[in-house]
Amino acid sequence: MLRIEDLHVEAGGREILKGINLEIGDGQTSVLFGPNGSGKSTLISAIMGLGHCKVTKGRMIYNGIDITNLPIDERARLGIGMMMQRPPNITGVKLKNLISVVSKDNGSILKKAGEFNMDRFMERDINVGFSGGEIKRSDLLQLTAQRPKFVLLDEPESGVDIESIGLVGKKVHDLLYGDELCGKGCVSALVITHTGQILEYIGADRAYILNDGRIKCSGRPMDLLKDIRERGYKECIQCRMVKM
Ligand SMILES: Nc1ncnc2c1ncn2[C@@H]1O[C@H](COP(=O)(O)OP(=O)(O)OP(=O)(O)O)[C@@H](O)[C@H]1O
Ligand SMILES: [Mg+2]
Repeated sequence: MLRIEDLHVEAGGREILKGINLEIGDGQTSVLFGPNGSGKSTLISAIMGLGHCKVTKGRMIYNGIDITNLPIDERARLGIGMMMQRPPNITGVKLKNLISVVSKDNGSILKKAGEFNMDRFMERDINVGFSGGEIKRSDLLQLTAQRPKFVLLDEPESGVDIESIGLVGKKVHDLLYGDELCGKGCVSALVITHTGQILEYIGADRAYILNDGRIKCSGRPMDLLKDIRERGYKECIQCRMVKM
């Protein structure tokens, strides 16, 4: 569904991604691990087409279409959707109005705001004064309204309290597997997580460790997570390199 070839990306005048190669098949979920500042958010921002990411080399093919130079709205129309690590505040735009505009089901998602514990927030400006957990639930509701076919999730569980993590996990699960029209296996995803908590709610096929703008190794998500916990990123990468 998505093929990334030798992708180099600059942000703020510095090369952040230094030759990424990655493939995610139909209905597959891949996980991205890596230390702070390694380029994980930059990678999914570049796939979505966020303005601060400048592709200097390489290309991205989505369902056979070269999306490398497509504007962000066209990528969204093709079915790519993103939950950002830190989405911006949008003063003057009510959450209800944005959801109505992006909704693929004529706004019927608005009736489901309660399931996301977001019904009280619909009249508020997007993210303005929202708590960290409220921002995550709001972003997830917006993404669900878009019914994306390729989902980019940047630390969906971070900052979410222990009680709400079940709700976020279930809604992420529904996002990936809950499309009644095409059933299981039609939505693909790339998920960034530090703790792996979200993996209790979704199945993931493959995981990658990104370090210093390059994918250093890959493996089964739980194996890599265990290695990272026990040995740290550096040793995990060295050990996996030897095994690979
Ligand atoms: N717009 C920008 N201007 C300048 N530097 C940037 C910009 N965007 C990203 N960077 C830099 O690129 C590097 C990678 O950032 P990125 O957000 O991709 O890391 P990350 O792996 O997601 O880290 P974290 O786990 O902390 O979220 C960082 O050093 C960051 O400061
Ligand atoms: Mg990040």
